[in-house]
Amino acid sequence: MLQKIKNSAAYLSSFLDKEEYSIGIILGTGLGELGKSIEIRHTIPYSAIPNFPVSTVEGHKGNLLIGQFGGKNIIAMQGRFHFYEGYSMQEVTFPIRVLRQLGVKTLFVSNAAGGVNTNFLVGDLMIITDHINLFPEHPLRGKNINELGPRFPGMTDAYSPRIIQIAEECSKELGIKLQKGVYAGLQGPSFETPAEYHWIRVIGGDAVGMSTVPEIIVARHMGIECFGISVITNSTASPELIKTNHEEVQDIGNTAQPRMTALFQAIISKL
Ligand code: HPA
Repeated sequence: MLQKIKNSAAYLSSFLDKEEYSIGIILGTGLGELGKSIEIRHTIPYSAIPNFPVSTVEGHKGNLLIGQFGGKNIIAMQGRFHFYEGYSMQEVTFPIRVLRQLGVKTLFVSNAAGGVNTNFLVGDLMIITDHINLFPEHPLRGKNINELGPRFPGMTDAYSPRIIQIAEECSKELGIKLQKGVYAGLQGPSFETPAEYHWIRVIGGDAVGMSTVPEIIVARHMGIECFGISVITNSTASPELIKTNHEEVQDIGNTAQPRMTALFQAIISKL
């Protein structure tokens, strides 16, 4: 595994022009448009990167974008790997390990999520303050790679209080409403039953989705500072609202793009 990570990083490092790239961004469902605001220096298809899995889901691009955003050097993942697609947890999180090897110290993620907090409206943005890992397999299961991080990594402050504070300042300046809450990550790919949405609320979740948790765990294992925002694409607050589908999730994800881009740009420029 370590050798695979190093080989992928060795291939990619030639695109970094010996400059420091300390910020990584995962552009999640419906939020890939943020890529258009990046001053791109290199677009590298995942298929060209040794050992990289290849994205299969409709509407997900599979490129690594190397460039500048918010005045900083960034590496962005245009397309991520979901456990529900059939990838192993090692594959889902492999790119994050490569990013760390390339020098990334701060990771930004976005995702689409169903709102189970009844105060949330469709289209709201939620700062992820914490997560609940409901995936059936742990990305760090198996022999620990000591070179990457400790056997038993802590998960308090998994989502950087420092960046959350910056985000709140930026949201005030930009006049963008932000919610805060706990993201529950499940494997999918079916959406939840009403009973499951209720259960997620009862155990302390505010939003639910099918990504992010594995990547954050692996990033924290390696000491990467993390920040994430969920776009609330559907609400479970009433029986009429609880039905959702992939198109609705993507449509609402798209309407959030200008706000997400503005917010991420402001936060990153303040780092
Ligand atoms: N459940 C799980 N994942 C999701 C949802 C949901 O309701 N909405 C967007 N991603």
